[in-house]
Amino acid sequence: SDTPLALTPPMGWNNWAHYMCDIDEAKVVANADALVSSGLAAKGYDTVTVDDCWMTRSRDADGALVVDREKFPHGMEWLGDRLHAKGLKFGIYQDAGHLTCEKYPGSGAPLGGGPDHYAQDARQFASWRVDFVKMDGCNLYVPEGVTKERAYRDAYRAVADALRASGRDMVLSASAPAYFQQGEWGGPDWHRVLGWVGETGQLWREGRDIQVYKPAAPATSRWGSVMGNYGYNRWLGRYAGPGNWNDPDFLIAGAPGLTAAESRSQVALWAMMAAPFILSSQVSELTPEGLAALGNTELIALDQDRLGRQGAVASSNATFEILTRQLAGGDRAVAVLNRSGSARDIHVPLAEVGLPGCTVDAKELWTGERRRVSDALTGRLAAHDTAVWRLDPRGCAGAVPTGQIVG
Ligand code: GLA
Repeated sequence: SDTPLALTPPMGWNNWAHYMCDIDEAKVVANADALVSSGLAAKGYDTVTVDDCWMTRSRDADGALVVDREKFPHGMEWLGDRLHAKGLKFGIYQDAGHLTCEKYPGSGAPLGGGPDHYAQDARQFASWRVDFVKMDGCNLYVPEGVTKERAYRDAYRAVADALRASGRDMVLSASAPAYFQQGEWGGPDWHRVLGWVGETGQLWREGRDIQVYKPAAPATSRWGSVMGNYGYNRWLGRYAGPGNWNDPDFLIAGAPGLTAAESRSQVALWAMMAAPFILSSQVSELTPEGLAALGNTELIALDQDRLGRQGAVASSNATFEILTRQLAGGDRAVAVLNRSGSARDIHVPLAEVGLPGCTVDAKELWTGERRRVSDALTGRLAAHDTAVWRLDPRGCAGAVPTGQIVG
């Protein structure tokens, strides 16, 4: 149908970063139930997505996808009903190429060309009452004489058309940009793809996978991965808006290997960037600090702000990064990240965040503390921590729209 979808960033859970292919019905159900019992579901984390490796290696005689019954004994229709009965939504993974990243049958045309399965798979998902499709972009056939960009564009348009034609509203996570990113700045093809991907999907992965959770991996690599994905997503605000979200990949806040400060930072930075809030961890194992950060209703409201404008970098140096975000109703959000490995005092003059000569009501979102501020936002930040304020600049004549701060 033509119902607008995902007017605010999707929220939920996906198994990939924690379980990868080691996934089954019991694990999905256990995490779904934990979303409910932890209170996260009621706060908006409602879409439970089964990632790659849920199917068998080949389609059936009719060309339909076949669920791996050893992993999902009751099948996908049952799973969707089980999730819906708990007030949750059902998400599933597929790939726009001929094979998924883990080499299960994809929806796309075979190598060398031939019929695709976009319409058939969309109808199958609709019959399972799927609400969200993560359509990855591995192994996509690029015909002779066609650019890679054209091949992806055609494929994702066909996917979007097929989902629409199925008659069921399904949010589309379109991974195309992730297959064009080159280096820190992405490259010109990447930006061209980011320019059209919103015509196909409501959110899109734009880069690397967030560090997979492995107890043996050095803890610093998980923080490094959060900083890496933040590092390029922060520049992509021009592509975001209601129904169109840049996706810097999963929230791993609260997973072992991130400090409490690092977990707060991921939630704060993802909220400033209006990023999808999709957890990928074992919900029952989240640290208390991580759970508190993920469940902080002020941060969730910031992420879900209905104006849908992604925050932007106002200033940046080796130690600090300052982001500002314009919110519905005139409020302004300001975040300060301490990249350094030691605690720092912060002092952010209002003039540096577009509010010269203003007196504002400022609410610090982690503590809820409110203050009248007329000169600078101040405080002390632990290593790798992020402070976030919501400011009410109404009545402040000097306020500069955030869009004018950075070019
Ligand atoms: C890619 C995606 C991941 C996950 C895997 C599954 O790497 O970026 O999020 O879906 O494929 O194979």
